[in-house]
Amino acid sequence: KANEPVTFVIFGATGDLTRRKLLPALYTLFRERALPEQFTIIGFARREYDNEEFCELMGAALREHSRLPADDASLKEFCSHLLYHRGDLSDPAAFQSLNDRFTNDSTLPANRLLYLSISSDMVDQTVHFAHNAGLITPANQTPWTRVIIEKPFGRDLETAKALNQNLLAYLAESQIYRIDHYLGKETVQNILSFRFANTIFEPVFNRTYVDHIQITAAETVGMESGRGAFYDRTGALRDMVANHLFQLLCLVTMEPPDGLNAAAIRAEKMKILHALQPAASMQNRPGGVFGQYAKGDDINAFREEDRVSPDSQTETFVALRMEINNWRWAGVPIYLRTGKRMSKKTTEIAVQFRIPAMQLFQHVACEGDVCDLTGVKPNTLIFRIQPDEGIFLQVSAKRPSMQLVVESVDMDFSYSGKWDKELPEAYERLLLDALRGDPTLFTRSDEVESEWQVIDAIWKATEGQKPVDYAPGSWGPTDADQLIAPFSWRNEQ
Ligand code: BG6
Repeated sequence: KANEPVTFVIFGATGDLTRRKLLPALYTLFRERALPEQFTIIGFARREYDNEEFCELMGAALREHSRLPADDASLKEFCSHLLYHRGDLSDPAAFQSLNDRFTNDSTLPANRLLYLSISSDMVDQTVHFAHNAGLITPANQTPWTRVIIEKPFGRDLETAKALNQNLLAYLAESQIYRIDHYLGKETVQNILSFRFANTIFEPVFNRTYVDHIQITAAETVGMESGRGAFYDRTGALRDMVANHLFQLLCLVTMEPPDGLNAAAIRAEKMKILHALQPAASMQNRPGGVFGQYAKGDDINAFREEDRVSPDSQTETFVALRMEINNWRWAGVPIYLRTGKRMSKKTTEIAVQFRIPAMQLFQHVACEGDVCDLTGVKPNTLIFRIQPDEGIFLQVSAKRPSMQLVVESVDMDFSYSGKWDKELPEAYERLLLDALRGDPTLFTRSDEVESEWQVIDAIWKATEGQKPVDYAPGSWGPTDADQLIAPFSWRNEQ
């Protein structure tokens, strides 16, 4: 629960993110009594609404997107905390009038959480105007000001540094909360618990026992409405790898932190990012494969999508071979892959262990009573981030029969099997943490810069490579299978 009174200002309050994620998250926190007693939400946007109209609009969004039932009585109560402030982001006077509200209205909680749910090219200026209008109180004082910003945090190291510099001209690092919503996912937070709250896995999480690691974030969606222009400028590497996949990679490979505070965890993640690099080319195989989805039955090719250039060279799929140059992981390939319009929506991390030194058993795979001999099935530990959240360990066990053969079986922990409870949405956790002033699950400026440094190195290592077509509904270009050979991607989970 957050206790300090707060005014939550959402810049870009009529946008998609507000309707689909922010308001529903705030509403759930409100219903669960996790928000402070005194809180106000001010929606800042350009359209002509009054408080009532804004409330209606948000009520409709909650009815559609809220995780908890949005009944009339609780919506009415929630709405009594909502205000609308009409203003244009490019108009300093709109910020001034917002600040006047804080000065003149003593019922408005003075602590403020500013959420910039706006286009990334407006972020610097918005912070600048907010600062000039007096909306940003000094760091380490009360009333406090925190600012939440959404990715992209730049598009390469140079632009990320410039953005950080501009933000830090008006805010202290401790006031900036950079959202990577993957860090708010329950299963992502469980990676560290699983690794460091148990004794049995950590001793084998290293190059002696681990053969390779695969991280996949596959999506079935293509360009959701209105996203074409942004995505065409951005591509899969910047949209997913530079943040979400790198964060997963850090959590699964980092050293144990010396505490669970933000500084300790971020310090360990930073060490991984410093040591992370595209794998040196092995036998002339490229360390990366880029793909773009082609036309399918009733499905547009990426190049036919709304506001995408007809000759776009933007990748909607990327697979990478990376390595971590440190004592624990040297020589262990780390494969990353993400794409749109793939066969299945799934995000998972698979840690594949080495095969036993000596083969005493025959391994089989069976359908009913019909078994075929297979190669050795290695132990694999799978963190299922979504859907069917859980953790599985694949082990070999004797198949009940008169023969001595082994078959791969799952030791299986699923959230839904263990806890009869819907998992909280990432934004619920992250907004609550920002309200409580806990930056652990947010990305620090140097972390962002290190992420971009690695991305720049990937661009360099794959220079001149163009995306190859892949069929929508597939697992991406077949070149990605070459990339991971002699291993293979876990596709049929
Ligand atoms: C966003 C990306 O950060 O993450 C989107 O910009 C992507 O392109 C989304 O679809 C995926 O999030 P999730 O939570 O559905 O895996």
